[in-house]
Amino acid sequence: MWKRDEQDSQLTQMIEGKLSRRRFLTGTAAAGAGAFLAVNPVAKAVAATPTSSLLNFEAVPASTADTVTVPKGYKATPLMSWGDPIFTGAPEFEQHGKQDSKAQERQFGDNTDGMSFFPISEDRGVLAINNEYTNYEYLFDHQGEKMTADDVRKAQAAVGITIVEVVRKNGQWAIDRSGQRNRRITANTPMMLTGPAAGHDLMKTKADPAGIKPLGTFNNCANGQTPWGTYLTCEENFDDFFGSNQKGDVTADQARYGISASPSDYKWHQHDDRFDVVKNPNEANRFGWIVEIDPHDPSSTPMKRTALGRFKHENAALTLNGDGHAVVYLGDDERGEHLYKFVSKHRYEKGNDASNRKLLEEGTLYVAKFDMTGDLKGRGQWLELTFGKNGLTPDNGFNDQAEVVTFARRAATQVGATTMDRPEWVAVHPDNKHVFCTLTNNKNRGKEGQPVGGPNPRQKNHYGQILRWMPLNGDHTSTSFVWDLYLVAGNPTVHQGDLYAGSDNINAQNMFNSPDGIGFDTAGRLWIQTDGNYSNQGDFAGQGNNQMLCGDPMTGEIRRFLTGPVACEITGLAFSPDHKTMFVGVQHPGEEGAPSHFPYGGTTKPRSTIMMITREDGGVIGA
Ligand code: FEO
Ligand code: CA
Ligand code: CA
Repeated sequence: MWKRDEQDSQLTQMIEGKLSRRRFLTGTAAAGAGAFLAVNPVAKAVAATPTSSLLNFEAVPASTADTVTVPKGYKATPLMSWGDPIFTGAPEFEQHGKQDSKAQERQFGDNTDGMSFFPISEDRGVLAINNEYTNYEYLFDHQGEKMTADDVRKAQAAVGITIVEVVRKNGQWAIDRSGQRNRRITANTPMMLTGPAAGHDLMKTKADPAGIKPLGTFNNCANGQTPWGTYLTCEENFDDFFGSNQKGDVTADQARYGISASPSDYKWHQHDDRFDVVKNPNEANRFGWIVEIDPHDPSSTPMKRTALGRFKHENAALTLNGDGHAVVYLGDDERGEHLYKFVSKHRYEKGNDASNRKLLEEGTLYVAKFDMTGDLKGRGQWLELTFGKNGLTPDNGFNDQAEVVTFARRAATQVGATTMDRPEWVAVHPDNKHVFCTLTNNKNRGKEGQPVGGPNPRQKNHYGQILRWMPLNGDHTSTSFVWDLYLVAGNPTVHQGDLYAGSDNINAQNMFNSPDGIGFDTAGRLWIQTDGNYSNQGDFAGQGNNQMLCGDPMTGEIRRFLTGPVACEITGLAFSPDHKTMFVGVQHPGEEGAPSHFPYGGTTKPRSTIMMITREDGGVIGA
């Protein structure tokens, strides 16, 4: 436990010291308007003058154009779009949605999301990329209205992971269809469960009576990368793929994860009993995990790491603590759900990757509790989610650790965790002391069980904020931390004098809503991607399409770097090792039939695409 004076000194250092020299919000949220007004006009004037030495590019204005816009002196080029062949001899993309599952199994999946770059040599690497979900309006010529068994199989192949080698020639990266590591992982790829839930009754199904060999992964949202060379993919809204045509009851635990016995929009249950929750109630328990994949071995079996808990995982931000423990920060992206961390039991051993690859099998899961003072900064604690502790006992409905991890949400409620405004990505600063997490938005804030306060300071929060915390003495295994809000997104041209105008580092030139993807480059620039309201009207007037910004974590300055095409979100970020190419995901351009022809123009279908951002002078991105 921290002594209060230690906490106070680190809190002061964090809020007013070297991390944040700019003035941040002070006063209470309850008295928010007054306190905010006192600080905001001055700070906004300061923020208008660029001061950051980290941000060396010209800001891009907000845009509603059907294109990717980057700063002067930069260019954006497609690397790969949904449906592109990733193997030699695989069929080319077909525009009308008439190809079968066999074609999709050999092509890039849909809706690119989190991704990581694994170097092989100076001019060769492998990209592991999530394909989160699929858009039936573009996947099928019938828009999903009359699904056949092969249509289901095709949709199951459009999701999961794409692993593809990339090579650099004349300074430009391109995919290598003959790469030895190229692989598609789909909703039907054999996997293994590891950790406390493996083999438990909750995991057993007719097809897998031992409860250890699930098939596939889907709704792979964001990602993580380990120092031992593996890829972490995160199962988010898995419930969307389950349903039933039969009437049936689901348990309260299933309902907490969104499972219901009603027809699902994806209709997999029509042709694949695995996804019928009445026929196979345990199947959904085998999803909602972090999956660890070796991107260098296409014959390897992906491992579902149940020790890291089951919820709607956004990303997995892994850092090595000073003492060698692997610590993974994990968001659960649902309104009023929670923020978690995992600490490995064993320690990282440099050069012993056979051992390191087991680090995520065993450890301790925690969930965050924040103090709820109105100061937009304060203290917090990590509460342990271990069977037998903190009320996680048979009296309260927990019979073993498998139940604790499988129903981590219920365990979090039991121990009194703070309900959050949809925790999306977490990123650890290269100083390995400060951690950032996007809280994207939460229209339910202020309703029962979701009190306004602490890190969630606004009722009906439609703009989002970025939370920042620092563990005691930089020790990520500590159960105590201090926190503040790095930014509060808002619209200062529509709102004045309240928290909906945003924090002092938000102005008319850089405003946005719904921060989602975040990541640091090695120089310490914080890259921020948005998945928000792109109506450009009302409360969102002047914010344009979804976008990417760059923040200086020291000064708080935020500058817009990129704007996306019509009706997309920007999600997924990776760099070549020299940081001269940035890979950025453009997901679902033309969502729900919006008029987009990104990226190939003319009358082409809009296609989810990974863009490569480079500088015309060949320099480092952002520098
Ligand atoms: Fe897949 Fe929460 O974004
Ligand atoms: Ca996201
Ligand atoms: Ca989002």
